[in-house]
Amino acid sequence: MNRLGSTVLRFESLPSTNDLAREMAQSGTGEGIAILAREQTAGRGRQGRSWSSPPGEGLYVSLVLRPGIKPADSPVITLAAAVAVAQTLEQDYRIPSDIKWPNDVLARGRKICGILVESAIEANKLLYAVMGIGVNLGQREFPGELKDTATSLLIESGQSVTPDDFLKPLLDRLEYRYRQAMAQPSEVIARWEAMSSYARNCVVRVESSDSIIEGTTRGLTAKGALVIEMDSGERREIVSGEVKLRKG
Ligand code: BTN
Repeated sequence: MNRLGSTVLRFESLPSTNDLAREMAQSGTGEGIAILAREQTAGRGRQGRSWSSPPGEGLYVSLVLRPGIKPADSPVITLAAAVAVAQTLEQDYRIPSDIKWPNDVLARGRKICGILVESAIEANKLLYAVMGIGVNLGQREFPGELKDTATSLLIESGQSVTPDDFLKPLLDRLEYRYRQAMAQPSEVIARWEAMSSYARNCVVRVESSDSIIEGTTRGLTAKGALVIEMDSGERREIVSGEVKLRKG
């Protein structure tokens, strides 16, 4: 069992650290290898979005994981990553943080970190998972549509932090939360719920590829799905989609 990030492979520029980590996982690389790039030219986000990755301004890292769990139990891995990032921001950099389901880390309501976990499944077995984490560190402002929705560690705290500075404490927390996700997933879920203002009693609209659901959040299930109580009183368990606060 290798510690997460006990080996870090560093690159000046990559299309996407997740792509290289996936290739390496597919060709047999063991758990724990971290791929770090100073810049990404095709950084990817959830739901086909891109991830802005200017050189030296953010942490762009992907970890190869080989969790011995069933695919249905894997969402807790992404929740564990969000908890690890939010705790690093709060405890090491004094930045009050929030988590929007499933794994956007926010500061003052703006996105400071995104997490993209991609996994390979065969015959109901999880062959590997790649955990990609992007944290905005040194941006002073953001272009276009990110202007009003994104923030960085520099904007939030005035501190100039290098990707390596941030990676070190983050890896310790990821190691702890990832092992906890394997051994006691309910502890990760409870921690996630405690750190997220979205977890309970939050009026939201959840958009996914095939449905739109509106209602009030009622916590997470044991597998990390978001429970929404609709106005009719019916409860739905959401496993994918985009959560937005509902106004009025
Ligand atoms: C999201 O919020 O939509 C997820 C963003 C994930 C970005 C990270 S940066 C490192 C890794 N490589 C990628 O191409 N994406 C992830």
